[in-house]
Order: sequence, then C-alpha cells, then structure tokens
Amino acid sequence: MRPSVPRALASLALLAALVGTASAEPRYEGRKKCGSCHRSQLESWEKTAHADAMASLAPQARVEAKRKAGLDPSRDYRQDADCVGCHSTGFGHEGGYDPKEAGKDLVGVGCESCHGPGSDYRLLHRKAALAFDSKGRTAPRERLAEAGQELLFEDRCKACHMNYEGSPWPKAARPYTPFTPAIDPKYGFDFARAVRSDKAMHEHFKLEGVFVGPPLAAFRDEFQSRARPPAEGGDEAQR
Ligand code: HEC
Ligand code: HEC
Ligand code: HEC
Ligand code: HEC
Repeated sequence: MRPSVPRALASLALLAALVGTASAEPRYEGRKKCGSCHRSQLESWEKTAHADAMASLAPQARVEAKRKAGLDPSRDYRQDADCVGCHSTGFGHEGGYDPKEAGKDLVGVGCESCHGPGSDYRLLHRKAALAFDSKGRTAPRERLAEAGQELLFEDRCKACHMNYEGSPWPKAARPYTPFTPAIDPKYGFDFARAVRSDKAMHEHFKLEGVFVGPPLAAFRDEFQSRARPPAEGGDEAQR
C-alpha cells in the first residue's frame, strides 16, 4: 500500500527535520539568486543529471527502469508527494518547490538541495566579498554553517540516495526511493565516488578564498587544484 498523502507529507517534514538546520529555518530561494553571482556553476549544473531529475517523473520517461522498480511507466508522478521531494529543490520546506505553482527555479535537484536553503547565507556571501575586496579581510566559514549552508554534503546526498527501506543509513524514513541496490546494484551510493561524478555534479571553479576555516570538506583542495577561473560576469560582476 502506498501511504496516504497527509502521511507522506508528515514523513517529508521528518526528512526535513533530519536534513535541515535547527530553529528559525532559512528559506529556499531558487537557483536564479545563486546563479546571478555564480554563473559558471549554474551553466555547468544545467548539464547535469540532477538538473533533469524532474523529467524522470514524467509519463513514458525511463520506462524500463520504472518497470523494474514496480512503478507504472504511463503514470505522471510529477505532482506525487511520494516522489517530488527528491526530484525537486526544498519540497516541504519554506520557500521550497510547490507542485501547484511550479516556477522553474526549484524544478530538479538544484543548488540549495546540496548547499542548503540560501536566504541567510547568500547575504553573508555578498557582505564578505565586499570586505574582502575593500580591506582584504577574510570571513569565517563557521558563520556560513550557522546560517544554514551545508559544507560537508554527505548527509544531504544520503537523504535522497540512501533513503530506502533497509538502508544502512540510520536516518532513512518514508517516502523512500523506489530505486534501491536490491533492485539493481548500480543504485548503491558511494559518496566518495559519487561526489566526483562529472555526469551528476557541476564543474568546479576557482575561489579567491573569501571564506576560511572549518567546516570544510576533505575534497576541497583536490577540487580547487583542478578548478578553472569562473566566467566573466560571475561573482566578480555582482560585488
Ligand atoms: C551577491 C553574490 C552572491 C550570491 C547571491 C551568492 N553567492 Fe555564493 N559566494 C559569493 C562570493 C563572492 C563568494 C566567495 C568566493 C571566493 O572565495 O572567491 C561565494 C562563495 C560561495 C561558496 C564557497 C564557500 C566556501 O566554502 O568558501 C559556495 C559553495 C557558494 N558561494 C554557493 C552559493 C549558493 C548555493 C548561492 C545561492 C543560495 C550563493 N552562493 C549565492 C557570492 C554570492
Ligand atoms: C534532493 C535529492 C538529491 C540530493 C540532495 C542529491 N541527489 Fe544525486 N540524484 C538525485 C536524483 C533524483 C537523481 C536521478 C536524476 C535522474 O536521472 O532523474 C540523482 C542522480 C545522481 C547521480 C547519477 C547517478 C547515475 O549514475 O545515474 C549521482 C552520481 C549523484 N546523484 C550524486 C549525488 C551527490 C554526490 C550528492 C550530494 C553532494 C547528491 N547526489 C545529492 C537526487 C539527489
Ligand atoms: C528518497 C528520495 C527519492 C524519492 C522519494 C524518489 N526518488 Fe526517484 N530517485 C532518487 C535517486 C537518488 C535517484 C538516482 C538513483 C541512481 O541512479 O543511483 C532516483 C532516480 C529515479 C529515476 C531514474 C532511474 C533510472 O535508472 O533511470 C526515476 C524514473 C525515478 N527516480 C522516479 C521516481 C518516482 C516515480 C518516485 C515516486 C514514486 C521517486 N522516484 C521517488 C531519489 C528518490
Ligand atoms: C548535487 C549537489 C550539488 C548541487 C546540485 C550544486 N552544487 Fe555547488 N558544489 C557541490 C559540491 C560537492 C561542491 C564542492 C565543495 C567543496 O569543494 O568544498 C560545490 C561547490 C560549489 C561552489 C564553490 C566553487 C566550486 O565551483 O567548487 C560554488 C560557488 C557552488 N558550488 C555553487 C553552486 C550553484 C550556484 C549551484 C546551482 C546552480 C550548485 N552549486 C549546485 C555540490 C552541489
């Protein structure tokens, strides 16, 4: 039996509590805000599997995969509360995706699905950039984390990728993903490998080092060592 919609929504709120931050929740704002300063990442993200995630919920998309997972390939799942939480940005949270008024900004697994809801920390990005440019002053990354920015990622990825019945991820809760390693081992999730996927992840661009200190992911130096400079009209133009 599929859970009723209210129950599914209640469990989404639980999932929200698990992956979200504590009190006074920052709001989801959509990728346009981020992209106005981070154009290179936005353009690269548009080519990833995450950007297209909502299309997989349409009728006749991924027919074989759906059959194998016991789903109905002719059904439209794009408004289904059991599905959209992991195929859009911020569903069930303030400012997040709403199937009833689906602005394009929150369709697909967007910036804030991984980096966290941006209403508060994006203001810090602007402020810190101004202080960096005018006085050469850096800002502590800790402040970003306090404002709801995700800097380590692993748990956020797992909230979608390892959220299935019988998952070794201890926080798994309904609604589950229908695509589990039991259905096909390719659906297993190895964070260290997945975060380096160029099919699913945006390309990395050089940072100037406005923010310093922890929390910082172990792969930062590796990613930055291969990073290209961002395009003109990226964050420079917005300061
Ligand atoms: C007003 C422009 C602006 C906006 C809007 C903005 N950022 Fe930033 N962001 C910056 C600047 C400037 C930096 C510092 C870049 C550097 O160190 O070279 C930064 C840094 C970052 C970093 C790296 C932080 C670190 O660990 O050093 C990430 C990730 C990021 N932004 C993501 C986002 C996301 C996601 C959004 C949308 C919610 C967003 N930004 C909105 C300007 C902005
Ligand atoms: C909001 C849920 C969500 C989050 C958060 C999320 N993903 Fe995904 N991811 C998806 C969905 C849905 C797809 C499938 C997209 C499609 O093809 O429809 C996907 C696809 C992928 C794929 C491609 C799988 C394949 O081989 O086809 C990789 C790799 C991946 N994600 C890695 C990550 C990593 C690493 C993170 C964290 C940094 C992450 N994801 C965060 C939902 C999410
Ligand atoms: C808990 C998060 C979550 C929920 C809920 C969820 N999905 Fe997904 N979905 C994912 C992730 C993660 C992937 C990527 C799996 C991979 O490739 O490793 C995915 C992939 C897919 C794919 C592509 C599979 C392929 O191999 O091409 C389809 C189709 C899909 N989901 C449909 C649905 C439908 C329909 C529902 C609702 C009945 C749903 N999903 C609910 C997380 C979720
Ligand atoms: C699937 C997860 C995911 C999504 C979606 C995503 N990012 Fe990222 N992003 C990452 C990871 C992982 C890093 C590397 C962080 C590090 O090195 O510490 C990163 C790094 C960044 C950085 C730092 C510089 C760089 O290029 O490495 C910026 C800025 C950024 N992302 C902006 C964005 C914007 C804007 C979007 C939406 C258009 C977006 N991201 C979407 C996971 C994601």
